[in-house]
Order: sequence, then C-alpha cells, then structure tokens
Amino acid sequence: MDAAIYRRLDELFREGTGEHCFRRRPNYDRIAADLPRATVDIVLYGAIRSTHSGIDDRTSRSGHSDRHADQRSRGMITGTGRVALVTGASSGIGAATARLLAARGMHVVVNYLHSEAAAEEVVAGIGEAGGHALAVQADVRETAAVENLIEQVQARWGGVDVLVHNALTPYAIKSFQDMTWKELGGKLDDEMRAAFTVTKAVLPTMTAQRWGRIIYIGTGLSRRPREGMIALGTAKAALAQFARYLAQELGPWAITVNVVEPGPVEDTRIAGVLDDENKRRQVAATPLGRLALTGDVAQAVAFYASEDNAFMTGTTAAVNGGMAMY
Ligand SMILES: NC(=O)c1ccc[n+]([C@@H]2O[C@H](COP(=O)([O-])OP(=O)(O)OC[C@H]3O[C@@H](n4cnc5c(N)ncnc54)[C@H](OP(=O)(O)O)[C@@H]3O)[C@@H](O)[C@H]2O)c1
Repeated sequence: MDAAIYRRLDELFREGTGEHCFRRRPNYDRIAADLPRATVDIVLYGAIRSTHSGIDDRTSRSGHSDRHADQRSRGMITGTGRVALVTGASSGIGAATARLLAARGMHVVVNYLHSEAAAEEVVAGIGEAGGHALAVQADVRETAAVENLIEQVQARWGGVDVLVHNALTPYAIKSFQDMTWKELGGKLDDEMRAAFTVTKAVLPTMTAQRWGRIIYIGTGLSRRPREGMIALGTAKAALAQFARYLAQELGPWAITVNVVEPGPVEDTRIAGVLDDENKRRQVAATPLGRLALTGDVAQAVAFYASEDNAFMTGTTAAVNGGMAMY
C-alpha cells in the first residue's frame, strides 16, 4: 500500500469525514481503484484506522470513533460493529435476536414498550457475554417516541445500520363474523403505522451511507389462514407486501429488505396459551418434528442482517420446519 495514498486519504478526512465528503472528491475513483478492497471498505465507512504505522484513528464529525472501520481493520468483516435496532426485544423472538446479533458483534438497541425489567435483563445478559446493548423504551407506533429513540442511539453509537422490526402489537383472536371494524382496522393501522414509523426513522442513515439491512418479522399466517387469526394474518400480509415495495425502491442504496415468517414458536408468550392437543397437531404437521424455537428465527434474521446477505432482497424466509413450504 502506497504511503502517499494514505497521506492523501488522511488529508481528505481532515477536510470532512465520511463517505459523502470522500465520494464528492473528483479523484475518488482513481484513489479507490488503487486501494486494497478492505481499505476501501474502511474508507467508505468514514474513517481510517490502519495497522500501518503513521496512520491515526479518525473520528467522525459527531466525535464518535468509527466502529466499522475499527472492526474491519482487525479483519472482522461480517456484521461486526454495526448498530442493530430490534423492536420488541424484551421477550420472545426479539430478545433471542438481540442476543444473537450482539454475539455476532453488533451493538444492539433493545426496544420495549412496558417490560423495562425484562429489557434490562436482556441488556445485562448481552453485557455479561461481552457484547454491547442498550435498552430504549418507545412505542413504535408513535413518531415522536421513535424519533426520541433514534436520538438516543445516535448520541451513543451513531445511526442504525440494521432494523429488525419484530414488535408485536395486540390483536383480537376471533372469527370475522364476531369481529368489529375497530378490531380489524385497528390492527391493520397499528401494524402498518409501526412499520412505517420505524422504517422512516432509520432510512436517513442507511441511504446516506448506502448500506442497510431491514428485516420484518411476519408470520406464516399471512399465507395460510388459521381459525381466529384473520386480524394478525391480514395485517402481516400487508407488511410482507410493504417489504417487497421497499426492497424495490431501496435497492439502489444497497439496502436489502426481507421478511422472516415463522410458524408457531415454542418459547414465546403466545405459545403459553396453546393447549397440548393443539401443539401436538402442529408438531405432527411439521416434517422436522418440532415447533420452532426463538433461536431458529433469530438465525434467519442474523443472516439477513449480515454482510453475507449482499444480494437477497424482497425475499421471505419461512422458519417453520417445513409445516408450509414456499
Ligand atoms: N410467537 C409466535 O409463535 C410467532 C409466530 C409467527 C410470528 N411471530 C411474530 O414474531 C414477532 C415477535 O413475536 P413474539 O411472540 O416473540 O412476541 P412477544 O414475546 O409477545 O413480545 C412482543 C414484544 O413486542 C413489544 N411490543 C409490543 N407492542 C409494542 C409497541 N407498541 N412498541 C414497542 N414494542 C412493543 C413487547 O414489549 P413489552 O413486553 O415491553 O410490552 C415485546 O417485547 C411478532 O411480530 C409476531 O407476529 C410470532
């Protein structure tokens, strides 16, 4: 690596930090073409931290050291140092996902609505395992609350790189004939308002840095109806199509948008209300012979959230042991 190129990059970053500053430079392409791939990655994320002598760490305009560059310079490319927001991470699938993403080296925002103690417990567990997490209360249906959450994250770690929208807003379990418009329309409104609000809030960072991962947690019930689940199934079907439209629109910014659709998940709140006979029937209908665990769902999310997933967008992962095949 030519020391002169490092010096030139160093100068560029003294003038202003980040991809925007760098990309605006007329000689960006020429310089970047000369650099090893890993160094270009470092530069694109707004800082230079090199094992070469004479190159110091750089901090961003906001004063935060660049976490991606830091990790990359140590050869850890996959997902490390990214900031992931997991909505509804105080229990169930969200908590398992937060733990796994943190174990993979991400800084994780554990969002919750009411369960502060449970969210803090998730954060403490991540901390004990050597990871980084922050619990932030916010009703994801409320614009002001979500903006406040994003401000807290920015102050701590910078913008959100990975959004896992998992929060489960309440819904009525009943037949269409017993259902009121308030119940059905209310669930549709909650589901889409939450997805709209959190997505709007994370996009400015993702589009600016031309990298992002968005994962929505859907459900197999959006495709295969089950008695009493019309409100949830219809709302999640809307969410899945919303994801595909976003995948189309956001592709040019290298933002991937995917959906994970679990079948029934064993270790969650809702599983606690399933009777044994119901559970037995569901297991019997599952080729892999058991119900999903929260960790199974988290693994699929973690793949979509990682750098490994550079080219899958607008897709759906069915995490259901083969109960439904699509
Ligand atoms: N469990 C299953 O069998 C299953 C199957 C298929 C799909 N899914 C999907 O997987 C996702 C997670 O389900 P789960 O069963 O793991 O959920 P869960 O254990 O019931 O947890 C729901 C989470 O959402 C949070 N939440 C609820 N309303 C919120 C709001 N307005 N703002 C912010 N957070 C809110 C809750 O926070 P608080 O506790 O703080 O209130 C909690 O952390 C859902 O999208 C669900 O549809 C679940």
